[in-house]
Amino acid sequence: MKNVQSLGALMEERGVSRRAFLKYASYVASLMALPPAAAAAMAEGLAKARRQSVIWLSFQECTGCTESITRAHSPTLENLIFDFISLDYQEVLMAACGEAADAARHAAMADNKGKYIVVVEGSVPTKDGGIYSAIGGVSNLQMLQETVENAFAVVAVGSCASFGGIPKANPNPTGAVAISDLIGGKPLINISGCPPIPEAIVGSLSYILSFGKLPELDHLGRPKAFFGETIHDRCYRRPFYERGLFADSFDDDGARQGWCLYKVGCKGPVTYNACATLKWNGGVSFPIQSGHGCLGCSEPNFWDGGGFYRPLPTPLGATGTVLAGAAVAGAALGLGASHLARKHQKNYLAAPKSEED
Ligand code: SF4
Ligand code: SF4
Ligand code: F3S
Repeated sequence: MKNVQSLGALMEERGVSRRAFLKYASYVASLMALPPAAAAAMAEGLAKARRQSVIWLSFQECTGCTESITRAHSPTLENLIFDFISLDYQEVLMAACGEAADAARHAAMADNKGKYIVVVEGSVPTKDGGIYSAIGGVSNLQMLQETVENAFAVVAVGSCASFGGIPKANPNPTGAVAISDLIGGKPLINISGCPPIPEAIVGSLSYILSFGKLPELDHLGRPKAFFGETIHDRCYRRPFYERGLFADSFDDDGARQGWCLYKVGCKGPVTYNACATLKWNGGVSFPIQSGHGCLGCSEPNFWDGGGFYRPLPTPLGATGTVLAGAAVAGAALGLGASHLARKHQKNYLAAPKSEED
């Protein structure tokens, strides 16, 4: 599908006011912690942009990432598809199937050469020539390579696509790998999480549309706007952590009083994601608010890494009370929470998972 009409013209045609357009741009700019002037630049960029052709490939995955984006609240998935992007291929959501669906993918590639974005959900099996996952007789590996060849950028959505995720977990029978292992040289953004927060997907796509480039990324290729801080940095239970008040089990008095979940395995201190601020389902809640520790689902190796219910290695090797002291000691030494997080992360990722985990 050729996309010749600018988004501004399309919006006008649909009766969307400039004010509403600016409001949306302001919302995305605030989500991404951009300076106030960026909202106007974003609105201007969006108005000039063409509807972006997006090809969404689903490989070794559970469809949870697609489920997540269908829960996007602002804009909703419908807004996104009908107003901002042309979702030319998405197996779960598209009406076409079989050969017609594949023809749509090829048409989008030919019509938007060098301009389309490829979103990938799921890891790619590479063992035995990639035979363990195929669509219409085409292996995931082959489909990825041919689709990405003339793409403008690739967005790996979810921890499976970003880091290999659960398919890559030990013993990894299919030889699953992350998208970054296969597409060297293409601009790539990882939006990790199992699944990722819908606002992180929508916000990142909006940024690319507005400015024609990727947002600022961290050392793992994730947008800093959503992955710049740990869950622990913004967790509302943090005051309990600082005071050394920890739940020892999920049904003790501490748990009932909402104390810190560190001792029952929370990985918030080593997990970079925006769950504690954006939350889920339009800001209703997130795992820690529901009484369960963070599993670290947006980090590489989270499944094998540290054991879901095993506490992280204790900072400075002390008990709960001294844990609070560790944070204070870190602050006194000028170590931010993120520094402590990266220090712990090394330990966490090195820790083998035991049978009971
Ligand atoms: Fe499913 Fe998680 Fe993989 Fe997304 S990242 S496809 S939710 S297993
Ligand atoms: Fe919140 Fe977990 Fe940090 Fe405790 S350890 S403050 S529950 S993120
Ligand atoms: Fe995942 Fe932890 Fe958020 S488990 S959903 S990163 S709170």
